[in-house]
Amino acid sequence: ESLQALVPLHGVLLSKDVVDNWETIESFQARSDDVVIATYPKAGTTWASEIIDMIYADGDHEKCRRDYIFNRVPYLEFRVPGMPTGIDQLNGTPSPRLVKTHLPIHLMPNSFWEKKAKVIYVARNAKDVAVSYFFFHQNVSALPDPGPWDKFLDNYMKGNVGYGSWYDHVKGWWEKRHDYKILYLFYEDMKEEPKREIRKMLDFLGKNMSDDALNKIVYHTSFDFMKTNDKVNYKSLPKEVIDQSTIPFMRKGIAGDWKNHFTVTQNEEFDGDYKRKMSGTDLHFRTVI
Ligand code: A3P
Repeated sequence: ESLQALVPLHGVLLSKDVVDNWETIESFQARSDDVVIATYPKAGTTWASEIIDMIYADGDHEKCRRDYIFNRVPYLEFRVPGMPTGIDQLNGTPSPRLVKTHLPIHLMPNSFWEKKAKVIYVARNAKDVAVSYFFFHQNVSALPDPGPWDKFLDNYMKGNVGYGSWYDHVKGWWEKRHDYKILYLFYEDMKEEPKREIRKMLDFLGKNMSDDALNKIVYHTSFDFMKTNDKVNYKSLPKEVIDQSTIPFMRKGIAGDWKNHFTVTQNEEFDGDYKRKMSGTDLHFRTVI
């Protein structure tokens, strides 16, 4: 039996380990002061998690939580045999907990909404996510072999990848952003002006912070700093889980890398398909089309 199997759950492909344990995940008991970082994979999860962790450490890098095996912000649906599950880690975490998830909104455990937990959603443009996800598949043993780029891109456009369709994910969270406590942010905005976006997070979380502390967060969460910070660059994970020998997890960290990977034909097809899938939403990304 392969670790690599992706199986559908309510129309969304998830790893078999997640689907096999769905009842445990679905019945997860959220707390009212949980803060969730929700993203489609490769949208800037690790970056946003580090920012929020530093906010909760009042901008003091030394005070950041350091006691998780996987990363400092447990990943709700994390399940790798032989390692503590995300839920095990969360159950052992004092409040306020930071929780990371890639679930589409319709699969979120209900208790997050019942407890009125806050969610920071980060969206990144579809093309850069496709490129980043393609490289990630080459690193992570639990993900299927992506095949050649052209094939992966085709699967991605069809939603035949882990966590399903990027289009459905970003739209699903966008449409519900006023129904729950959701702050909807964009990777490209964070790249453009991190301080402005961190201030939005602070406001949303009801936190005050000195300019000095805010500057420290900007500094410690820059791509260059995080790339060399072994607490967040996943270098502490065994090679069997993620092999970074050729492609580092902290790969490029820019907006617009898709231009180095999409052919003209791929780009035209992608844009046509994108227009169809994104028609009828007022959600707009600035680096695509
Ligand atoms: P690239 O592969 O395009 O470089 P996630 O954490 O959701 O898996 O997303 C990973 C992507 O975010 C990678 O994109 C990674 O380089 C990028 N990233 C991580 N930390 C970052 C930071 N501090 N600033 C900008 N991008 C960052």
